[in-house]
Amino acid sequence: MRLNILLSSLLPVFVRAAVQDPVCVVGAGPTGLAAAHALEAKNYSVVIFDKELEVGGKCQAYYDGVDGSLWHPMGALVVSNASYTETVPIIKDAGVPFLPGLSVTTGWDYPPLSPGDSVVNVTRMPTPTLDQIALILLEVPRYTALRDAIVKRTGVMRYTNGVPNDLTIPMGQWLSKNGFEGLPIIVNASLQLIGYGDLEHTPALYALKYLSADLLAWYTNLGTVNFVGEFHPIPSDRFINETGFECADYHAVFLHYASSIHGQIHTNTAVTKIDRSGPSPVLTHVSLGSTQPQTQVQNCSHLVLAFPPILEALQSTGSSSGATVDWNTTGIDMDLSPSETSVFSRVGLTAYFSGAVGMPQVPPQVAFAQLPTADVGQPVLMTKMHQGSGVVGTYSWGPWTPTGRGNLSVEEARNILLQTYSRVDFSPASADSEMDSENTSGAIPITDQDVREFRKWDYFPRFQSEDLANGIYDKYNALQGQQKTYWASGLNGFEMVEYAIQAGKEIVETFF
Ligand SMILES: Cc1cc2nc3c(=O)[nH]c(=O)nc-3n(C[C@H](O)[C@H](O)[C@H](O)COP(=O)(O)OP(=O)(O)OC[C@H]3O[C@@H](n4cnc5c(N)ncnc54)[C@H](O)[C@@H]3O)c2cc1C
Ligand SMILES: *[C@@H]1O[C@H](CO)[C@@H](O)[C@H](O)[C@H]1NC(C)=O
Ligand SMILES: *[C@@H]1O[C@H](CO)[C@@H](O)[C@H](O)[C@H]1NC(C)=O
Ligand SMILES: *[C@@H]1O[C@H](CO)[C@@H](O)[C@H](O)[C@H]1NC(C)=O
Ligand SMILES: *[C@@H]1O[C@H](CO)[C@@H](O)[C@H](O)[C@H]1NC(C)=O
Ligand SMILES: *[C@@H]1O[C@H](CO)[C@@H](O)[C@H](O)[C@H]1NC(C)=O
Ligand SMILES: *[C@@H]1O[C@H](CO)[C@@H](O)[C@H](O)[C@H]1NC(C)=O
Ligand SMILES: *[C@@H]1O[C@H](CO)[C@@H](O)[C@H](O)[C@H]1NC(C)=O
Ligand SMILES: *[C@@H]1O[C@H](CO)[C@@H](O)[C@H](O)[C@H]1NC(C)=O
Ligand SMILES: *[C@@H]1O[C@H](CO)[C@@H](O)[C@H](O)[C@H]1NC(C)=O
Repeated sequence: MRLNILLSSLLPVFVRAAVQDPVCVVGAGPTGLAAAHALEAKNYSVVIFDKELEVGGKCQAYYDGVDGSLWHPMGALVVSNASYTETVPIIKDAGVPFLPGLSVTTGWDYPPLSPGDSVVNVTRMPTPTLDQIALILLEVPRYTALRDAIVKRTGVMRYTNGVPNDLTIPMGQWLSKNGFEGLPIIVNASLQLIGYGDLEHTPALYALKYLSADLLAWYTNLGTVNFVGEFHPIPSDRFINETGFECADYHAVFLHYASSIHGQIHTNTAVTKIDRSGPSPVLTHVSLGSTQPQTQVQNCSHLVLAFPPILEALQSTGSSSGATVDWNTTGIDMDLSPSETSVFSRVGLTAYFSGAVGMPQVPPQVAFAQLPTADVGQPVLMTKMHQGSGVVGTYSWGPWTPTGRGNLSVEEARNILLQTYSRVDFSPASADSEMDSENTSGAIPITDQDVREFRKWDYFPRFQSEDLANGIYDKYNALQGQQKTYWASGLNGFEMVEYAIQAGKEIVETFF
């Protein structure tokens, strides 16, 4: 006893890390990586697990072209200087260049397709009238002032100052209650095109957190946005300016960010079970690389669960004997407490899909959008990022579900994409372009072979209006630290890279 006291008072702080089990971080997305960095800065040892082949979470990419030099985002791409304060230094540190962002609200439009349609034409995206533009310009400063005050008041992360009742209502109601008549059309598009729901569903709390002045300006085409891409011949000293919106190869960014983490990062490794019945959590993980998956256990001092916490992700689907396990959708077999179950059963996601598809007929560097958006799994946004590439990047989503993962399978969504794009005639846009697209006319059928990659993501974890009004964030926040478990994801703020990084840091700064 005496010796113990003596030892612990004499041991330098850093030895604590060596003698304790590591903090186990599940998820090597922006949240988990940021948490790991913050933990190591506090001298905790960490070990990280992720099912994906590479780190980055939803920041993955498809590469083609000579020596893989062309980058096609399968996940995040947009960054802005003003809103992405934690992210921009990480991008700069990685040396990944910023590319100019592309407007997604100018370009070409195709309607939702019905089964009866044979071929549909693209039309120019409608632009607001001069009167509408004047109204929007008038409303933006008032919106920005209101929004910034609200975001400050609700707390930096996890809405720890409480969620006022007037923010639990859907964004459409909030806008109309506050007398905004020009903004709804822009806000609707900015939610729908990016898979964040729509004015009728998305609670104002989240829409406001998302739509900072610079993001709104981008969607309104009053500001520029930029993207970040590693393999581009754009000088890396070209940085974004105040109004600048850019895009980045976030996958390359997070590969670099992960490389300075000292703890082990087990990719291609699913966490399948967590036992919290003993003094500290014991985690079971399975390496997915070989045909005979290898199971190992890890003792953890604490757990940081850094992924969208829907119930399906936190329960085993129990396909034990015989049947092949789908590691993409199998959850963790863990002893959830009744309060954990009651909170996480209320978390919903957008069924969000991204693809890289060979479509030479599509002209580059112009956006194709489905406005209005039918949330039925049809692609809603598509761009060919690079001249000289036949590959487009596409996003699809739907249908909207209040809780859980959504039941549209990746195979169904892939088929819907093939059916939709096979019936759109892109030639008016090609004719308009001086770029390198093939001059063809008519709809060109695409086949399964044209789809280079197609993924379904656990996207936009959030609560519904009713639950927000009933104080669900207080219940969520009360779970932090119970049974040495911490929860961090888009649910802690909003589903975008900047808030993911902030969420990972905040959990560590607050509780460790
Ligand atoms: C198509 C698309 C476009 C996007 N565009 C943008 C954009 O332009 N700008 C922007 O800011 N944001 C964008 N985002 C959102 C951004 O990517 C996310 O907000 C961010 O990745 C969230 O980070 P995270 O670490 O919280 O979660 P994730 O990135 O989802 O990472 C969680 C990780 O946990 C792993 N995991 C879960 N369960 C287990 C388990 N049992 N065992 C092992 N590993 C597990 C998963 O494999 C995953 O890699 C986009 C997302 C998508 C999908
Ligand atoms: C971490 O350990 C280093 C020595 O390795 C020490 O200088 C530093 O103060 C420690 N930091 C914290 C937060 O304990
Ligand atoms: C599409 O455009 C072509 C002319 O390019 C026209 O003949 C055809 O009727 C249009 N189809 C639809 C459904 O509008
Ligand atoms: C980025 O924005 C900040 C304000 O948020 C500004 O101070 C800074 O100069 C900008 N940086 C660049 C490189 O434009
Ligand atoms: C900001 O960047 C955009 C392109 O991203 C550019 O068109 C604009 O001129 C820049 N503005 C300033 C003040 O540098
Ligand atoms: C993990 O913890 C258990 C007790 O909970 C202990 O018996 C076991 O030896 C530990 N394993 C390692 C590798 O530390
Ligand atoms: C799981 O995801 C990987 C990566 O996209 C994919 O290659 C694989 O086919 C998926 N497995 C199943 C069973 O869907
Ligand atoms: C928002 O979009 C939905 C679906 O496209 C549409 O039904 C609704 O009318 C739109 N609302 C506004 C205000 O534009
Ligand atoms: C999928 O979910 C939608 C929306 O909740 C529902 O209408 C539909 O019946 C479900 N389909 C299946 C096959 O479960
Ligand atoms: C194709 O190119 C020819 C000229 O080479 C032009 O006259 C025609 O309008 C183009 N058609 C389409 C559909 O792009």
